[in-house]
Amino acid sequence: MRSSKVPAAAAALQVALLLAAAAAGHGHLKVGYYEKTCPGVEEVVKHHVAKAVRADRGSGAALVRLIFHDCFVRGCDASVLLDPTPANPHTEKTAPINIGLAGFDVIDDIKAALEARCPGTVSCADIVVYAARDASSLLSNGHVHFAAPAGRLDGAVSLAADAQRDLPDSTFSIAELIRNFRRKNFTVEELVILSGAHAVGVGHCSSLRARLTAPPQQIVPAYRSLLAAKCAAGPDPVVPNNVRDEDPAAVAAAFPSFLKKLRKAKDFLDNSYYHNNLARIVTFNSDWQLLTEKEALGHVKEYAENGTLWDEDFSDALVKLSKLPMPPHSRGEIRKHCRFVNHH
Ligand code: HEM
Ligand SMILES: *[C@@H]1O[C@H](CO)[C@@H](O)[C@H](O)[C@H]1NC(C)=O
Ligand SMILES: *[C@@H]1O[C@H](CO)[C@@H](O)[C@H](O)[C@H]1NC(C)=O
Repeated sequence: MRSSKVPAAAAALQVALLLAAAAAGHGHLKVGYYEKTCPGVEEVVKHHVAKAVRADRGSGAALVRLIFHDCFVRGCDASVLLDPTPANPHTEKTAPINIGLAGFDVIDDIKAALEARCPGTVSCADIVVYAARDASSLLSNGHVHFAAPAGRLDGAVSLAADAQRDLPDSTFSIAELIRNFRRKNFTVEELVILSGAHAVGVGHCSSLRARLTAPPQQIVPAYRSLLAAKCAAGPDPVVPNNVRDEDPAAVAAAFPSFLKKLRKAKDFLDNSYYHNNLARIVTFNSDWQLLTEKEALGHVKEYAENGTLWDEDFSDALVKLSKLPMPPHSRGEIRKHCRFVNHH
């Protein structure tokens, strides 16, 4: 981008400006950030997310997970989107903790449409946030909704080791979960609120293996049998996170008493996670762990009782998540392609 003849002082100034932009980008997130520079940007994102969700509601779940896995690692900077290259073969998306992460193709489609409309203007980091907002709204029939501030920049650093260090594991104890969220300035209540996202989507059996031998106080034996049967069907199959999305045949075979609770709309984002959790019918150890600490348990009960409250608090928690900043002094840019940093 810069000619090699640029004097050192000018180059240094350029770097300083980039740094300032990166810092300012996160200090000044604004609703309607692209109003002047790319009118209609939010409609374009919504159109593409709606199309993807119509074709496959699971892609909506993937987008809801993506904002978490982006923002908890180096802030919301689209570092999770970077593909491995010879120069950086171990980007975040190659980390084991990111198993099953998806939605990248939807982000690429949105980015292509926005580059055609207003080149070099909309960051991939903002697209991740807008897309998660629209996905959660669509999956909840509009019950989860919020205005999404924007003006983020895309980061240039993406390391599997950072993802591995910053993202919580499904085997975590409640103490580890609380500590993990605390490091990002999230409370126990917000841990409980955000975990409710597991009302939608799927998980690999490798992420819940220990649950197949957990005692009845931790998981209903009939549900455990159901999971065990499904997990025996291949090397590492996926199962719905929400038992209410299970296929009726499997439920009829292992857990017939639950048949009447299956839902018609799959991947519906509501507070059913909390009901399932209190009944000990959730997939991950980290979900069950929320019942083992007084404050967290209180919030699980609170959100089981009031679905409207969860819709509102989940919306607020996603906004807070979307404001996690890049590390100080990070370089930021507007990527041309979400999977690769720009060439300089
Ligand atoms: C509290 C700690 C959390 C842990 C330990 C955790 C763990 C996991 C695991 C292991 C999976 C399945 C991955 C796989 O095996 O393919 C998963 C899926 C998912 N998680 Fe979490 N998660 C946590 C919090 C969150 C948060 C905060 C959100 C979003 C706000 C979220 C949204 C999702 C979604 C939507 C899926 C399904 C994705 C899909 O179907 O593509 N999770 N999570
Ligand atoms: C958490 O809050 C502290 C104190 O305000 C701040 O210094 C720190 O940068 C915040 N951490 C994150 C990840 O935002
Ligand atoms: C549920 O939460 C909503 C939103 O905060 C509140 O307006 C409503 O009064 C609550 N309902 C009950 C039964 O507590």
